[in-house]
Amino acid sequence: MNHLLSLKDFSPAQIQLMLDTSEILQNGNETPLKDKHILFIFEKPSLRTVLGTEVAINQLGGHVIHTQPEIMLSQGKNVEFSSRESMKDTIMNVAQWCDAIFARVYSHETLSEMAAISPIPVINALCEKYHPMQAIADVLTIRQQFGVGNSAKITFVGDANNVAGSLFEALLKLGYSVAFTGPESYYWSEADLAGFNKLAAAYSGSFEHSTNPNDVLPGSDVVYTDTFISMGEEHLTAEKLGHFHGYQVNEEMMSIAGPQAYFMHCQPAHRGVEVTGAVLDHERSLVKKQAFNRMVSAKGVFASLLSGKLSDADQPEHALSMNGA
Ligand code: NVA
Repeated sequence: MNHLLSLKDFSPAQIQLMLDTSEILQNGNETPLKDKHILFIFEKPSLRTVLGTEVAINQLGGHVIHTQPEIMLSQGKNVEFSSRESMKDTIMNVAQWCDAIFARVYSHETLSEMAAISPIPVINALCEKYHPMQAIADVLTIRQQFGVGNSAKITFVGDANNVAGSLFEALLKLGYSVAFTGPESYYWSEADLAGFNKLAAAYSGSFEHSTNPNDVLPGSDVVYTDTFISMGEEHLTAEKLGHFHGYQVNEEMMSIAGPQAYFMHCQPAHRGVEVTGAVLDHERSLVKKQAFNRMVSAKGVFASLLSGKLSDADQPEHALSMNGA
């Protein structure tokens, strides 16, 4: 079963296949999702993930159905998936009509529980731990910016959670240089750091990290940040803003990285908080390209997953270890 809950389950060749498929389908007239129905279940708000993915599915000939999350989910409390019937019964019914489930949830456990019983693919549209759809889009942007086969140093400034974690997973599996800086109180666990170091060693990339931005920013080709307050963390706003003081990506921080550095942000962005308007609007900001690529990469992800081609991607002829080489 081709679920996509996290990129941890995907090899470099499979990630590569999703990226290549995205570019092949970007401007084509092919309709690999003809007659496919994709159910969208969103517990949290979304602009880019819903619209970018919906346009992609429409262009590939598929159909999107939106359900009310309160009917399908129980706000992340996966003890009882639905107040009307069991998760198993709900999913079995959905599978009679739909070909995949695209879900944004508060708790990753909800997705795991769905995937364990679902006969149709479950695709993560963001949870508190992972954001694989954003990561595929961002790696596509980075690959287009620096060229297939060329490495680059991507430094993430900010919160050690879903966006950064999935981005690192994809970048390190494709041999990029990755760096992280953020406050100690919202840092990676030892297990996470060991995992990133292991990926860097396995796929000839590199991973460095520090609580001090000055240690990792110099020489970065990309400086990336995300909101300091993720969806569902609004009650932590005052506390987190205190801890993240000094990690705003502003012109001074970009100048420490160097004149070669581009800026990236998954958005929604908060001007004057994690990034200044001047950096967000700067000519070296890639945010518009990132947003466009949410649509392009969704084509590659859905077409690859629903065609079943990903299971063949690890055959020797597909086994690439570097970024596009
Ligand atoms: N870390 C953010 C990402 C939004 C796309 C959140 O989880 O809200």
